[in-house]
Amino acid sequence: MSKTAIKLNVNGKTEELLVEPRELLIYVLREKLNLTGPHVGCETSHCGACTVEIDGKSVKSCTMFAVQADGTEITTIEGLSTPDNLHVLQRMFREHHGLQCGYCTPGMITRAHRLLQENPNPTEEDVRFGIAGNLCRCTGYQNIVKSILAAAAEINAAQEAAE
Ligand code: FES
Ligand code: FES
Repeated sequence: MSKTAIKLNVNGKTEELLVEPRELLIYVLREKLNLTGPHVGCETSHCGACTVEIDGKSVKSCTMFAVQADGTEITTIEGLSTPDNLHVLQRMFREHHGLQCGYCTPGMITRAHRLLQENPNPTEEDVRFGIAGNLCRCTGYQNIVKSILAAAAEINAAQEAAE
């Protein structure tokens, strides 16, 4: 099958790739770029395990062909932090037991990251609505919501202290 050249900016790095028209973005991220944080759950746009940010929007990367992402800026969970310096959302998920098996967690945190960019002061209802496209089969959501609200509070407190 013929391949198409695409250029992506992924986590701040330019990537030039040859992809087949049928290749989904999630597989290109995981198998060609070795970014295994975004997970494959359902492949049918339901679970959100594959969530990444594309040009400032949360996108389920199993719903998009890689060729459609040509020229975009993509952030995966790997782009949010380093192992030595976790993102506040990652710290709060750990502190408030926002995960059990962890399968949904990269997508959940990537979604929460965008949610807090769009709404830095969310109510509990805003958070629940904002993560409605990300499913977790383990936690019952209580601690996920708590973790996101705690992260929002810490980000806002740091910003107030800096002003
Ligand atoms: S794997 Fe993409 S939404 Fe489930
Ligand atoms: S922590 Fe297991 S699916 Fe969410």
